[in-house]
Amino acid sequence: MFPVRTAAVAADPPEPLQPASDQLHSLETRRLSAWYGERLAIRDVNLSFAPGQITAIIGPSGCGKSTLVRCLNRMHEVTPGASVTGSVLLDGDDIYAPGVDPVLVRRRIGMVFQRPNPFPTMSIFDNVAVGIRLNGVDVGKSLSDLVWEALDRVGLWNEVKDKLRQPGTALSGGEQQRLCIARALAIAPEILLLDEPTGALDPAATLKIEELLRQLKNEFTIVIVTHNMQQAARVSDVTAFMLAGPDRVGTVVEVGPTRQIFTSPKDRRTEDYITGRFG
Ligand SMILES: Nc1ncnc2c1ncn2[C@@H]1O[C@H](COP(=O)(O)OP(=O)(O)O)[C@@H](O)[C@H]1O
Ligand SMILES: [Mg+2]
Repeated sequence: MFPVRTAAVAADPPEPLQPASDQLHSLETRRLSAWYGERLAIRDVNLSFAPGQITAIIGPSGCGKSTLVRCLNRMHEVTPGASVTGSVLLDGDDIYAPGVDPVLVRRRIGMVFQRPNPFPTMSIFDNVAVGIRLNGVDVGKSLSDLVWEALDRVGLWNEVKDKLRQPGTALSGGEQQRLCIARALAIAPEILLLDEPTGALDPAATLKIEELLRQLKNEFTIVIVTHNMQQAARVSDVTAFMLAGPDRVGTVVEVGPTRQIFTSPKDRRTEDYITGRFG
């Protein structure tokens, strides 16, 4: 049975949320393939995301990076006609095993998208509180303490403490993205997935997010998709390079320590990509 760590929905007696730092979590894919209808988008991806490390997924547009990360928390199947084969193991348990509730998977494996997407009708406070309200509150902590904690963790508290009732969309792009990260962190996920989280941000806001990710990796296992190679080099410990072949099916060409991938790649295609010969 899939172990459920954070379940404390309204009707159940509250269950304590374990702080993620108590134990870092691992994620691994085994022969993971994903389709959109009849069309195979990624094939046989075997990747192991090391606990407490940042893994960057790089590769040209259309090679399947977003498809891959969306398979990692069962978001892929939300697209009509989309399907997956193979497995994704969270601490050894297959999130695709029969009977596993995708909603619980997405609670344990949080996701942040390219375009900051605070709920437009909600205040800054409610944007963070909404997940806590839906998923249950840590025993012994008030909702406002949990919201404060999440906003403080992403370095946003000082900026927003006097305007918690204003809409989340009133913030700058970079602040909105940190708000979305706070919203993801507030429900104590075990793994954090980010799909081009700075793709819509200016350089200063981008650096702030990168600094935040470096801090967070002590507590979370992080997977970041980026087509910005400098970003991968700056923030990640491990880099996986994906490429779509002539059949337009994406595969992982090479994975290794980030320094090695950027200084002495083993595959010619990786070298061509990082030296800017294509993509
Ligand atoms: N909703 C969808 N329906 C059909 N094909 C899709 C869909 N989303 C992505 N694809 C296709 O899957 C492939 C991989 O896309 P994607 O994962 O978005 O790549 P990346 O994030 O690396 O740019 C592309 O060929 C893309 O056209
Ligand atoms: Mg993408």
